[in-house]
Amino acid sequence: MELEGRTAVITGGASGIGLATARRMAQAGASLVLGDVEEESLARAVGALREGGARVVGVTCDVAVEADVVALRDAALANFAGAHLIFNNAGVGGGPAIGTPKAVWDWVMGVNVDGVINGINAFVPLFLEQNEGHVVSTASLAGLGGVPGMGPYCASKFAVVGIAESLFHELRLSGKNVGASVLCPGFVRTRIDESERNMPEDLRAYNDTPAVRAVSAMASDAVRAGIDPAVVAEAVTAAVLENRFWILTHEHAAIRTSEQRVAWMSGGQPPRINLEGATRP
Ligand SMILES: NC(=O)c1ccc[n+]([C@@H]2O[C@H](COP(=O)([O-])OP(=O)(O)OC[C@H]3O[C@@H](n4cnc5c(N)ncnc54)[C@H](O)[C@@H]3O)[C@@H](O)[C@H]2O)c1
Repeated sequence: MELEGRTAVITGGASGIGLATARRMAQAGASLVLGDVEEESLARAVGALREGGARVVGVTCDVAVEADVVALRDAALANFAGAHLIFNNAGVGGGPAIGTPKAVWDWVMGVNVDGVINGINAFVPLFLEQNEGHVVSTASLAGLGGVPGMGPYCASKFAVVGIAESLFHELRLSGKNVGASVLCPGFVRTRIDESERNMPEDLRAYNDTPAVRAVSAMASDAVRAGIDPAVVAEAVTAAVLENRFWILTHEHAAIRTSEQRVAWMSGGQPPRINLEGATRP
């Protein structure tokens, strides 16, 4: 799909992969609507992009709230007379499968899964009507294989892969010029390991438990050793231009994880935890 003159809407656009994608889309000539729950970071991101010559508006939003995501589409239509790409990118990490309060599971699933559902509902009907558009939903390597210490996150990212695959098939059956991709990165140097900054106040005490602190410390080390978000943005852009479904920035780890699951399903040994290639491919 052409990017010049199109409008890209990016949730979680104030930081990390979302912000890098915004820079890359602007470079390709797209107008931008950035949605983020962090008002100040969003204002900073929008200011910096404008200074660089981008056409961009920022809209404070919580992707778990349907009306907030509809407001992103409305902002695209009002400011740029169209919307052509939705990046369902906003996401947060949670705790382990054992001992995580249900309210924390709900928060993670709300942002990571409801956010994607809201993005699809708000944008796909418009894309089908105009016979042009592309949906990129962000999952993770944690959506291709379970890992310890990340129960809610894995649940949410497996859900995103499933939703994105269903969407892909339905769009193909529709015969319309609307594409879908799923992004499954390994570790990327962003602020994902500081997700608790956006956790509802009343849930934050949970982060001070030893199990959560131990997992957070490990996740932070891996994130710091990860790839630059600009590399992810480049891979995302290439996939949109080529209308490719899988976006595997750490391809070797993604394929190894998937093959090991198939071997396990066919009566082999359960896969061992192996982070080789999940930081630097
Ligand atoms: N960094 C990694 O190692 C990694 C690996 C695989 C997948 N991912 C995924 O990439 C996506 C982007 O994360 P990132 O790594 O850039 O992290 P990040 O924390 O740097 O950026 C996430 C952005 O989402 C925003 N956000 C959080 N909750 C929100 C909400 N309810 N509504 C709107 N915006 C919200 C944050 O304010 C932030 O600006 C996430 O879906 C994440 O799960 C990240």
